[in-house]
Order: sequence, then C-alpha cells, then structure tokens
Amino acid sequence: MSRMEGKVALVSGGAEGIGAAVARAIVAEGGSVMLGDVQLDKAEALARELGDRAAAVALDVRALDQWEAAVAATQARFGKLTVLANIAGISEPGTVTDGPLELWHRTLAINLTGPFYGMRAAIPAMVASGEPCAIVNIGSMIALRPAAFVAAYSASKTGLRGLTQSVALDLAARGLPIRVNMVHPGAIRTPMYERYKFSGADSPENIEANFAATHPMNRIGEPEEVARAVVFLASDEAGFTTGCDFTVDGGGSIRS
Ligand SMILES: NC(=O)c1ccc[n+]([C@@H]2O[C@H](COP(=O)([O-])OP(=O)(O)OC[C@H]3O[C@@H](n4cnc5c(N)ncnc54)[C@H](O)[C@@H]3O)[C@@H](O)[C@H]2O)c1
Repeated sequence: MSRMEGKVALVSGGAEGIGAAVARAIVAEGGSVMLGDVQLDKAEALARELGDRAAAVALDVRALDQWEAAVAATQARFGKLTVLANIAGISEPGTVTDGPLELWHRTLAINLTGPFYGMRAAIPAMVASGEPCAIVNIGSMIALRPAAFVAAYSASKTGLRGLTQSVALDLAARGLPIRVNMVHPGAIRTPMYERYKFSGADSPENIEANFAATHPMNRIGEPEEVARAVVFLASDEAGFTTGCDFTVDGGGSIRS
C-alpha cells in the first residue's frame, strides 16, 4: 500500500475520531503525518504508536500563529508539507433563538475560520515544496442538506463548502498544482458521535436507530470509511479532481 508514499501531511483534529483514522491510513499508505490537536497528550500517544513517520504538535485551529508553527514543525520534522487535512471540528445542538451566542462564535471559529487559517498557513509551504499537493476539508452530510436544530453547525459546514470551492478555483486559476476537495461524512462512530449517543437526550438504542434511519443504507459509518476517501483525494490518483463533494454518508444527502 503506497498511495501516500512521499507525501507529508498535516492533520488537524488528529488525536481521535476521524482525524486519528486519517493519520493511521496515511501512515499505512506510506506517508508521513504531523498530528495537530488541542489534545496534545492523545496526539503524541498516537504518534508514538504510528512510529517514525508520525509526530504531534499542539494546535488550536482558532489561532493563525499556531497553524504557522504547526506548518513550520512539519517542514522541520519531515522536510516539506504536501497534504493538509482540515478535520478538527465540533458539533453541538442549538437553534438561532435558543442556542447560546457563544456556541455560534465557537463553532464558526473552529469549523470555518480554522480551515481558512489552515489553508492560509499551508499554501505557501505547499508552493515551496514544488510538488503536487492536496487539501482535504471535512464537511458533513449537513453541508449538502442543512438540518434543523444545528444552526451554527449547518452554517459552518455550508460556509466551508463555499470556501473550499473558492480556494479550489483560485489555485487552479493561478496554475498551482494544489487540489482542494471536500469529504462529507454522514453519522460516523467517533467520540463526537458517542458523546451524543450517551448524552441522555434519548436512549442510546433510539439515538442509534434514529441516526441510522437518516441514511438509506440504514447504519452508522466507521471512521476508516471516511479515512479511505480522504486518502484517495489526497493522493495523486485524484489528480484531476478539485472542488469536489465526496460523500461518505450511506446515501444520506440524497435521500427523499
Ligand atoms: N462523527 C460524525 O458523525 C461526523 C459527521 C459529519 C462530519 N463530521 C466532522 O468530522 C470532523 C471530525 O469529527 P469527529 O467525529 O472525529 O470528532 P471528535 O470529537 O471525535 O474528534 C475531533 C478532534 O478534533 C479536535 N479538536 C476539537 N477542537 C479543536 C481545536 N480548536 N483545535 C484543534 N483540534 C480540535 C479534538 O480534540 C478531537 O481530537 C469534524 O469536522 C466533524 O464536524 C463528523
């Protein structure tokens, strides 16, 4: 397995969930990975487990200077940066009238401004690498099909979709070999999902059944299924693909 051979990736949210699965898949496919996360201990533990082609750096995606430091740390450790996976994100319920105002600002800061800062910090390093590069932003089924009761999350993910397409067009127009794509997961079995499943909002069995029912394939997805899509889009196999919406949602975004 060598789809990522020679690639050096920076993965935000790499300590657990989808980000951790992406980091594992990149190393398994022959690449190197820098795990950036606010949970540095967990990121470091995963990096140790993955071996010499993995390392960890403290990263709060809300801070541009931390992104710049993470990019510099990646170049210092692995010699270049050729892949950025913007995966860190949060999802908490709240409507436009009853959600805490703080939730709006925090969700936009992490889910939308975070990837903006990530791309701003990474693109100059990618240009400097002189190699074909790729950015993969994690959206959501909700970016294609906004949902009730998650106003900030819906806005952040549809906003990220517009940002992804704008940057893809911009980089292509400038003739830069940097592709920018999106992966849209449905409900995926990660700590984020488990937190909601056991939140007490309903019985865990009902929550699982209700989530599964919003996906025509009638199940929850696994982080490894999302990771495979990210690795494909990050690899040169996807060399003519930019600005795309790649769904990993069991058909959830096209259900009737
Ligand atoms: N799990 C799902 O059902 C699902 C569905 C659709 C989209 N997504 C998206 O996938 C991405 C990953 O979700 P997940 O389920 O793996 O979440 P998770 O909560 O299981 O893991 C998220 C990771 O991001 C890190 N993180 C959170 N805030 C951060 C910050 N400010 N800076 C840096 N790191 C930060 C956390 O420490 C954690 O390691 C998110 O963007 C999420 O919106 C998840």
